[in-house]
Amino acid sequence: MKRYDDKQWKNSMRIIFDFNNMMADVIGEGEGIAKEAINSLGEQLKAAAQAMVTKRKEGKMDWRDLPYNQDDVVEDILKTASEIQKKFDSFVVLGIGGSALGPIAVQQALSHMHYNELSKEERGGCPKLYVIDNVDPERMKALFEIIDIKKTMFNVITKSGSTSETMAQLLIVWEMLKNELGEGFGDHIIATTDKEKGNLIKIAKEHNLKTYYIPRGVGGRFSELSPVGLLPAAVCGIDIKEILAGAAYMDEICKNDDVYNNPAYMAATLQYLAMQAGKNISVMMPYADSLKYMADWYAQLWAESLGKRYNLKGEEVFVGQTPVKALGVTDQHSQVQLYTEGPFDKVITFLGVGEYRTSKEIPMGFEDIPAVSFLGGHTLNELIHAEQAATEYALLKAKRLNRTITLPEVNAFTVGQLLYFMEVETAFAGELLGINTFDQPGVEEGKNATYALLGRPGYEEKKAELDARPKKKEEYII
Ligand code: PA5
Repeated sequence: MKRYDDKQWKNSMRIIFDFNNMMADVIGEGEGIAKEAINSLGEQLKAAAQAMVTKRKEGKMDWRDLPYNQDDVVEDILKTASEIQKKFDSFVVLGIGGSALGPIAVQQALSHMHYNELSKEERGGCPKLYVIDNVDPERMKALFEIIDIKKTMFNVITKSGSTSETMAQLLIVWEMLKNELGEGFGDHIIATTDKEKGNLIKIAKEHNLKTYYIPRGVGGRFSELSPVGLLPAAVCGIDIKEILAGAAYMDEICKNDDVYNNPAYMAATLQYLAMQAGKNISVMMPYADSLKYMADWYAQLWAESLGKRYNLKGEEVFVGQTPVKALGVTDQHSQVQLYTEGPFDKVITFLGVGEYRTSKEIPMGFEDIPAVSFLGGHTLNELIHAEQAATEYALLKAKRLNRTITLPEVNAFTVGQLLYFMEVETAFAGELLGINTFDQPGVEEGKNATYALLGRPGYEEKKAELDARPKKKEEYII
């Protein structure tokens, strides 16, 4: 029996959403959100909840079914991962955005913090993991200086199958593998992409590459619980069934239509009301290095999903909240001054941890300096908890909206819950804003302009449009 089959264990691992410090009766009138403001959204909340149910039924939110409908895929991934562990020393993900940020966040959360620096034995026989989510030539060169491509498996991930960055990386890897290994080089590449659309699937079919599919209705930033995230995690020895069990558990919690009984809906509703009140910045501040990259993953999810010019009626709305990444306690000494005393334009979300996976005592010492010796006898765990509580208090005192999501501990089950929670929160916020949460026309524009600049056939008109853009004035270049 798996631990996530035990109801009591599962309930003890439920992540908690604390929104006290968003509320007017706690933080004060003026800045805080009154319960009446939530209640006055009555019909809008009902309609948004209804839309969540209807869209799911209509297959417009396929990402919500990922915790349930991948049994065969998961078995296949586990088999492949075990073969990779036996044969390869490095596993390199080639992808960007939704095809990279999830794998990074999950691995950082659930693997050893210096995973790649451990010996293969210490990594439980798993290969090193590299996620190359940029096309910086120096980074690419550096990668090839430290990996042995003969002992490397490359996982090229792209939902659209056409993203320039990823395809450029593939072309480089393709040529190198071909030159180094000759026939059979394709055994070093796994494709993760759409089953029918895009160029990668064509290449994969033609060259008989091992392929995983990203289901049709699962967009890039909502794809972490698909093979996009599951394969890299499994290769690193992470329990992917437990991640999915955590997501399924959160799905049950998030099925309730009543905002007061649905943490993700409440989280979205409060953010919506905060945005209406001009809080256009959303800070995500984990108090755990293991969750540092969750803030990156969340930033893409929140920004790309909600930052929209038009609503569903085609009216210009220019909505969205700018995500900011911070790390507790590190950024207490960098950004918290601004959060406490700067403009009243932010909501700060703390990501807290109940029990860290280890405890570190602070030794006694420097008895003659009481301002230092008071630390002795405490633990780093106590210190980081105290600092989080103190920052929450400072923000409360300064009437700054803040909320806390606490993971009882960081494990595959709680990480699965967290991912799913944030996805539902984002989708519900999109419903309240009346926008299309799942498209990204602003990103497409940049992608198309890149194609045009590099001479992709079919983009001649876009190239002409770019050529006609205002020329840069010398006087503004100094
Ligand atoms: O969420 C999205 O759709 C995007 O951010 C994509 O993940 C990103 O642009 C990469 O696209 P693709 O996976 O198609 O290469």
